[in-house]
Amino acid sequence: MLDPKVAELLNTQVNKEFYSAYLYLDFANYYKDQGLDGFANWYNIQAQEERDHAMLFIQYLQNNGEKVTLESIDKPDAVLAGFEDPLKAGLEHEQFVTSLIHAIYDAAYAQKDFRTMQFLDWFVKEQGEEEKNADDLITKFNLFGHDSRSLYMLDSELAARVYSAPSLVL
Ligand code: FEO
Repeated sequence: MLDPKVAELLNTQVNKEFYSAYLYLDFANYYKDQGLDGFANWYNIQAQEERDHAMLFIQYLQNNGEKVTLESIDKPDAVLAGFEDPLKAGLEHEQFVTSLIHAIYDAAYAQKDFRTMQFLDWFVKEQGEEEKNADDLITKFNLFGHDSRSLYMLDSELAARVYSAPSLVL
């Protein structure tokens, strides 16, 4: 059994990860509407990864004898009025998720819950990669996104992203 506060935060994170998937699906739909199928592909895969994250939290709770409670998922609320908007909102969102992971880590640390800390280590590293990917995308868009020919090339690059399952196995 886990400390109730730690278990509650882990359960809340299930919802946050599903919300992330929902948000990125919204970004993918926006780009699809705009004819940028590569950007849409990038965010569809991102959404898939977020669902994986949610499932990892569910599995971890269940492996520790905890009940999982699924709550309603909020409607994605990012205002998407230009090609750069999802990219900026994505980076901000990942920074927020990093703060959530750190808050769970803090609570686990306070309880000397080393098992949960070890489980979260993968997410701490993953958040570093998520923030870097989001930031790199903004940099690339700033460099290449304002000219139609190079935007086409960037979209083609993003179309090549393929899904790979998370490296964390519980
Ligand atoms: Fe679940 Fe994008 O971190």
